[in-house]
Amino acid sequence: MIAGLNLAKQSKQAASAVAQKRFAHDLIVSPKTGRTIIRTGGGGRSSSNGHVITVFGCTGFLGRYLINRLAREGAHIIVPYRDEDDMRHLKVMGDLGKIVPMEIHLRNKDSLEAAIRHSDTVYNLLGRDYETKNFSFSDVHVEAAGVLAELAQKHEVDRFIQMSALNADIDSPSKFLSTKAEGENLVRSIIPSATIVRPSAMYGQEDRFLARLAMSRGLSVRINGGITKVRPVNVSDVATAMHKMLDGHNTVGETFELVGNQEYTYKELMNFIKETTNLDIGDINVPKPVASLLAKVMNVLPWQTLGADEVERMMIDDKLTGAKTFDDLEIDPTSLEVTGIQYLRRFRTNLYNDEPLKKGVVNKKKVFHTSYL
Ligand SMILES: NC(=O)c1ccc[n+]([C@@H]2O[C@H](COP(=O)([O-])OP(=O)(O)OC[C@H]3O[C@@H](n4cnc5c(N)ncnc54)[C@H](OP(=O)(O)O)[C@@H]3O)[C@@H](O)[C@H]2O)c1
Repeated sequence: MIAGLNLAKQSKQAASAVAQKRFAHDLIVSPKTGRTIIRTGGGGRSSSNGHVITVFGCTGFLGRYLINRLAREGAHIIVPYRDEDDMRHLKVMGDLGKIVPMEIHLRNKDSLEAAIRHSDTVYNLLGRDYETKNFSFSDVHVEAAGVLAELAQKHEVDRFIQMSALNADIDSPSKFLSTKAEGENLVRSIIPSATIVRPSAMYGQEDRFLARLAMSRGLSVRINGGITKVRPVNVSDVATAMHKMLDGHNTVGETFELVGNQEYTYKELMNFIKETTNLDIGDINVPKPVASLLAKVMNVLPWQTLGADEVERMMIDDKLTGAKTFDDLEIDPTSLEVTGIQYLRRFRTNLYNDEPLKKGVVNKKKVFHTSYL
């Protein structure tokens, strides 16, 4: 019995000796601040990758994918939140004590400072697709980004990664896009080493892109005749890229445009959704002035509807400006045609079950590509 206990003790000591063994690559010295970041443990969620990271905007769509990747390798993550219910799912992504929720308010600088003060990396994912009565685009995309950058500079944060959007341009007719560009410039003027990330429309399990197009069903509107070109990107790919930026010193001071590997018009996307879900999707072209007016009228509803600024964005083709891309991070973006079914399956009509079990021509006129099935 005693011999058995001794054996167990010895193997435990041997295991901890292995876990504590360190190598040169476990030590990272920040080129900016000289701060040392030391990894300990075997690399899983119970070990530590040495980083203390604050992710502003983590309660949104992209945030959960990013936190999941960071927490899985044992980072300490500060999770700033407004509503306690919105951050609960994030707490279980890391080991006990590794995810630290902190309540913040964008107009309470002390609360923002408390969330940044101990961190070596700050991700700013704050953003809003529409203006609210309390916060304008400028408040969230410019002022808040500026305050966070100043605080990060004050507390000698090594890495500041700012989330912008593809097509961000000071002269854009969309306020969302022009304020995103202003935010980029302000952050860069405060922290020249900041990394700027510009994703195109992101799709995934709980997105506001594919799901919204599918949900619009018969009422689907094709603003701009459906000819606007988009390059939707999988949210998982964006999260992987942002995770790589954490220790990727070649990303310092760079701008990345993260887009999907294929370009579609809205019309093509609607046809893809139609074929995948068998939904009876209408084909109405709504001229821009009518769409903008409808959006303004619908905005009086207490829930989120299509905003006038979103109508403006739906008129702008996705364009790359020559910044770095997924290639520079050695990431091969996922194809929408291969993974789209995962996110669209829930929208399939029961009519789908009545289809003959034949791949190829289905339901007289409708043709399914076998990869969608
Ligand atoms: N989704 C896309 O297709 C897409 C495309 C291009 C760029 N982007 C940008 O990428 C970033 C992440 O996108 P996402 O889809 O994850 O965004 P999201 O789901 O809308 O989440 C936005 C985050 O910002 C926070 N936030 C917004 N306004 C705030 C305010 N006034 N005070 C405090 N927090 C506030 C939200 O907090 P609450 O949960 O408390 O509201 C949430 O955590 C955003 O900057 C977005 O503009 C997104």
